[in-house]
Amino acid sequence: MTQIILTGDRPTGPLHLGHYVGSLQNRVKLQNEADSSGVAKYKPYILIADMQALTDNAGTPEKVSGNILEVALDYLAVGIDPSKSSIFIQSQIPEISELTMYFLNLLTLNQVERNPTVKEEIRQKDFGNKVPMGFLIYPVSQAADILAFNADLVPVGSDQIPMIEDTNMIARKFNQTYGTEVFKECEALVPENFSRLVGLDGKAKMSKSLNNAIYLKDTSDELWQKVRAMYTDPDHIKVEDPGKVEGNVCFTYLDAFAEDKAKVQTLKDHYSKGGLGDMAVKKYVMEVLDAKLSPIRERREELAKNPDRVMEILAKGTEEARSKVLETMTKVKAAMGIDYQLGKTSRKDKLKKLLNEV
Ligand code: TRP
Repeated sequence: MTQIILTGDRPTGPLHLGHYVGSLQNRVKLQNEADSSGVAKYKPYILIADMQALTDNAGTPEKVSGNILEVALDYLAVGIDPSKSSIFIQSQIPEISELTMYFLNLLTLNQVERNPTVKEEIRQKDFGNKVPMGFLIYPVSQAADILAFNADLVPVGSDQIPMIEDTNMIARKFNQTYGTEVFKECEALVPENFSRLVGLDGKAKMSKSLNNAIYLKDTSDELWQKVRAMYTDPDHIKVEDPGKVEGNVCFTYLDAFAEDKAKVQTLKDHYSKGGLGDMAVKKYVMEVLDAKLSPIRERREELAKNPDRVMEILAKGTEEARSKVLETMTKVKAAMGIDYQLGKTSRKDKLKKLLNEV
């Protein structure tokens, strides 16, 4: 049986190397997995979560809408194949919002406020006592994203685990409340032995807001500027000085991306002993990263020449995704007894139904 995968990103900027190692690479791999008779193991739906992005960008919607094409280009450039994975825009499937409304009745304010990821984000974003309602409840809307597809697997970073727990809580609660088995519980697929890619400055996380990211769309020149600015060992002043490998971003990246592990080990030994300059290491980092990124960049530039074609891919993906969601919604409404079928009954029947049953 083909398993359904649902995952996605908020379109608040172009995607970076952290996204690539943390999730994009894995999505491409999953999309291409097949059993011995060639049947795809997974059907991936990939969501561009524009509504979720609006929950903390209400006043600057162009920041969200303006990045949809960017994210789609990144997806296609890394090898997400629209004939296998349906890429879609969240806001264009209104049933996801509808499902969110039904779900909101099934949990309490306390339960929503308990989500540790949202709590942490609220602290980071300095909302003070002005937390937008939409932001507070975005885990419920994320549950609707996932359950609208009855997804089996949700590939995400470990920060998203609380969202999956909320999703499964809502699935159970729905089934229990309406005496149904419409929803199944899903499983988070967190990349194994993966440590989050550090930023250029050595901070724990590569992110747009920390301004320490290498973007998939960066040109060779931009990449080199960033590699040159990479955090190394601040005490490694003269070439002859022994240098520290631990915490040195150059070596972290070489560990993550260089295929020639023996060469990396030789460089590390040399650096630790002294006699190897930062510039020499950085040149190798550049070589390794550019080899990885230049095919992606070239594909992206090619695709970017024809934005209409990309929008067509999104339109088709959204149509495919919506038809899947409509299947679920039919079951949801039947389970809740709100499948009124107003168009199909006489006016008298309609009135009777509305008066007696609602
Ligand atoms: N919250 C995710 C993020 O910030 C994006 C997202 C929205 C998502 N809906 C989802 C991820 C559903 C997985 C499944 O990256």
